[in-house]
Amino acid sequence: MPIENISAADEATLATAAEHLNRGGCVAMPTETVYGLAARIDRADAIAAVFQLKERPDFDPLIVHVSSLAAAKSLAREWPPLAEQLAKAFWPGPLTLVLPKAPHVDDRITSGLETVGLRWPRHPLAAALIDRTGGALAAPSANKFGRTSPTTAAHVADEFAAEIAAGAIVVLDGGACEIGLESTVCDINKNTILLLRPGGISQQQIRAVVGSTVTIEAAKTAAESAQSPGHLKHHYMPRKPLIVAWGRTLGEVTTAELLAAGVGDRSELVEISLPEDARMAARALYAELRRADAAPGKTALFLARPLAGADLWQAIDDRLRRAARFQLGEPPRADFESDER
Ligand code: TXA
Ligand code: MG
Repeated sequence: MPIENISAADEATLATAAEHLNRGGCVAMPTETVYGLAARIDRADAIAAVFQLKERPDFDPLIVHVSSLAAAKSLAREWPPLAEQLAKAFWPGPLTLVLPKAPHVDDRITSGLETVGLRWPRHPLAAALIDRTGGALAAPSANKFGRTSPTTAAHVADEFAAEIAAGAIVVLDGGACEIGLESTVCDINKNTILLLRPGGISQQQIRAVVGSTVTIEAAKTAAESAQSPGHLKHHYMPRKPLIVAWGRTLGEVTTAELLAAGVGDRSELVEISLPEDARMAARALYAELRRADAAPGKTALFLARPLAGADLWQAIDDRLRRAARFQLGEPPRADFESDER
């Protein structure tokens, strides 16, 4: 992909980052969703380092990031028409396609699965970095396993201060992430799309592209979520316990409810409010959680989920449910509902 508008300063850090990757190092790379911790797919030592730096269990596969359709196709054993349709509609962008993997994709990247997750990110620095380092980079979100994903270079620096100081990780600063939530992960199977993780592309957007003859299912059962092994119930967690109140503000919650959630006094809480606009809320969510988590003298976080509409809120609510230690009330929609029922 031709890369435009890369400043001289970015050009210098890009060159350093590409060199580090080519030597088998790891680079924190900006994408439009969240920052990723990237390694070359042909460097087993670098792939191992990604798992080790993140303290990530080896059963949780990495997404491979590309900067062209041709590169994506070369990494998949099959490329069904549905994959072509979705890739053409949403790439570069926040959609990961899970497809049968080509034999040369390292089992360590896919955690031994027969499939590989593929995504072409939209951030120009990510595309440039991928172009300069062999055309494909494996990258999970650049956070310790189970924690909230970083949406700025400063978040990455907080998460990996020692590793950056030691030279194990080079950070490529591409500003604040445009979307702020991870990509939508879709398993493509003939005429069925299994949504393994809601994310930056909504179910409604996918439906609008594929039409009514394709079945879209949300992964719900344990067996299905085992297909997206990293998307665990307790994920995206701040360090301090988070109370999510669905559709109510702190003022509307009773003292008894707070007590049941382990909070004896309202002054222990940091309050987090999200904008009602879904795009703004998605962009703010992880930064707000990190800011609140760092607030001195407070022991717990309280987040009021405004009662707004669908679309991107499905992804936001998914993260809130997983990040919450306690929930007050019910989400406005019970779950990431399949639109087939
Ligand atoms: O937006 C994103 O997807 C970000 C940026 C950096 O691209 N990446 C990201 O990666 O969120 P990670 O590793 O934090 O989450 C990837 C998710 C995990 O839940 C993993 O289990 C799932 O994708 N996944 C990856 N490969 C898979 C595969 N072959 N089959 C099923 N699930 C897969
Ligand atoms: Mg992650």
